[in-house]
Amino acid sequence: MPRSGPLGCAAGVSFVGLAALIGYLRTGAQGGKSDAPKELGSVEVQQLIAQTPADKAGAASYADRCAVCHGDHMEGIAPAFPMLVGVGNRLTKAQIVDIIQNGKNQMPGAPDLQGADLDALLRFLRVGEQPAAATEADQPDRFTFTGYRKFLDPDGYPAIAPPWGTLNAIDLKTGKYLWKIPFGEYPELAAKGMKNTGTENYGGPVVTAGGVLFIGATIYDRKFRAFDTRDGKLLWETELPYSGVATPATYSVDGRQYVVIGSSEARDPKAKQGGAYVAFALPK
Ligand code: HEC
Repeated sequence: MPRSGPLGCAAGVSFVGLAALIGYLRTGAQGGKSDAPKELGSVEVQQLIAQTPADKAGAASYADRCAVCHGDHMEGIAPAFPMLVGVGNRLTKAQIVDIIQNGKNQMPGAPDLQGADLDALLRFLRVGEQPAAATEADQPDRFTFTGYRKFLDPDGYPAIAPPWGTLNAIDLKTGKYLWKIPFGEYPELAAKGMKNTGTENYGGPVVTAGGVLFIGATIYDRKFRAFDTRDGKLLWETELPYSGVATPATYSVDGRQYVVIGSSEARDPKAKQGGAYVAFALPK
């Protein structure tokens, strides 16, 4: 008997024989092929190991603690939650254990996942189980998904020519652009004269009856701006305590009009974290 472990209880049946038997039962259950049992390759054997009872525990803890974000079948939920299929081929076991126990950005850590529970989960995720040869055999495609990574230059800026973010006005009757301007700055680049590069931005605008468009959204300069909807001219800007990653709302109290925006630094994990609602009164 070449292996012990999860299948150690199968005394008297050779591993390959048992694997073939299970494989046969499984294809039978799917009502499909009626192939006679055959000897399994190492990849299939690895897969069988990954389906043994120890991994029922792994599957259960995945369903319980990971599926809500990474999907029932490890497929991920775009764009925020990476797929975990094949994660063992892109990260080392140590990296994965670190992420699971300590979390990463929006992912909370699970420091209590240790010992046998952690091992079962890692087996379920197929981490550290596949020998290099099997990994290659298992992945006939030359391309693998490595998560939602940004294509950045060595300094951490987008690896394409600016603008790196724009604000666009489209005439909905014709579908044509009325205007398009770079939107957002990196304060450290602006200080060196590289202004108006445009940046990542998250949040919509609100437009007043008078044709003034208010928008936050730019995550690095934390600005809140007002533009003329007719030509995209900047009318006013101010700095928020955090970036205005929300769509503003406008309301009036006793005849005075206000604009309010929620701000938070959740989109830029390197910045000081926090959040605040900031309201502005419009001139009378
Ligand atoms: C609340 C949502 C949430 C839960 C629950 C969660 N994750 Fe994550 N996970 C994330 C997010 C978001 C990322 C991306 C982090 C980043 O790179 O900014 C991530 C990243 C990962 C990565 C790195 C993937 C890669 O390709 O870089 C692994 C591995 C991972 N999670 C495993 C797990 C496991 C195992 C569990 C269950 C114990 C789990 N996660 C639970 C949200 C979650």
